[in-house]
Amino acid sequence: MINNKLLKKDLKEKRELVNITLDRFLPRKDEYPKDIHKAMRHTLFAGGKRLRPYLMLRTFELFSDEVSKVQPLAAAIEMLHTFTLIHDDLPAIDDDDYRRGKKTCHVVYGDDLALLAGDSLLCYAFDLLTTIEMSDENKIKMIRELASESGDQGLILGQMKDILSEGKDITKEELDFIHRNKTGRLIKLAIRFGCYAAEASKEDTKNMEIFGEKIGLAFQIVDDILDIEGSSKKMGKTVGKDIKVSKATYPAVYGLDKSKEMATKLVNEAKKLLEKYGDKAEMLSLLTDFILLREF
Ligand code: IPE
Ligand code: IPE
Ligand code: MG
Ligand code: MG
Ligand code: MG
Repeated sequence: MINNKLLKKDLKEKRELVNITLDRFLPRKDEYPKDIHKAMRHTLFAGGKRLRPYLMLRTFELFSDEVSKVQPLAAAIEMLHTFTLIHDDLPAIDDDDYRRGKKTCHVVYGDDLALLAGDSLLCYAFDLLTTIEMSDENKIKMIRELASESGDQGLILGQMKDILSEGKDITKEELDFIHRNKTGRLIKLAIRFGCYAAEASKEDTKNMEIFGEKIGLAFQIVDDILDIEGSSKKMGKTVGKDIKVSKATYPAVYGLDKSKEMATKLVNEAKKLLEKYGDKAEMLSLLTDFILLREF
């Protein structure tokens, strides 16, 4: 449940627009090769908060009102995120059976097709990015940043360290590194892309990046907490698994209370960075509260 009606409505409106763009850009289920298109759509349209597109769009709107121009950008970010989820759930990684309230892609379509569906979504993300109305120079910058932030020095690096840390004692620095990379990077990038697309000033871009860094880390700390305290039904995914497989999580390293305290501090600091935008940042501020208080 999202308690705030304004935020709930706004998230829904933006989510629907993102879904329309995703649906238009991707091949239909009955188009050749059908199986891969079905598998891609299975997880993509299973639900999902569309949080990263929302952050990009709402950041964009702090500095510009031509929001229809950036729909493909929002959809590209969501495709890339969904690719990471499909692969994250594979038996070789987290081995999870539920995602977004449905059986995971590999459970329904097999590991082979799930791998390929993820690969294909990743390719489409870059393809979609080339369609945004923006100067070639700006587009190339964004394509390169999407690649580097998601790649072996970013999100994939975080995922690799996450896997290699299972069952091991890790330092607080290593844990912080994993979370900032596997999850923080893409959240921060979505916000930075909102700034680039709206041609925000360097100063605002820096400010919003710091905001993104804080909420990105808070988001994964809360995900770790929800894996202990959350309900599988509300989350739409398996909970309780992190402890079983000794994942590197905030609660495992700091305990639940301290983890909650840390997430709260990050969220409060993040909200402070929005103050200079006044009423324009109302939705982002509500969303920042949601990151902490969410149950899904
Ligand atoms: C799940 O992300 C993966 C993490 C980084 C914790 P979300 O919680 O944003 O998942 P969806 O997109 O809403 O399904
Ligand atoms: C996921 O972290 C990060 C990425 C998918 C990049 P988790 O493994 O904790 O995410 P969930 O809990 O499966 O959604
Ligand atoms: Mg994982
Ligand atoms: Mg996982
Ligand atoms: Mg998790």
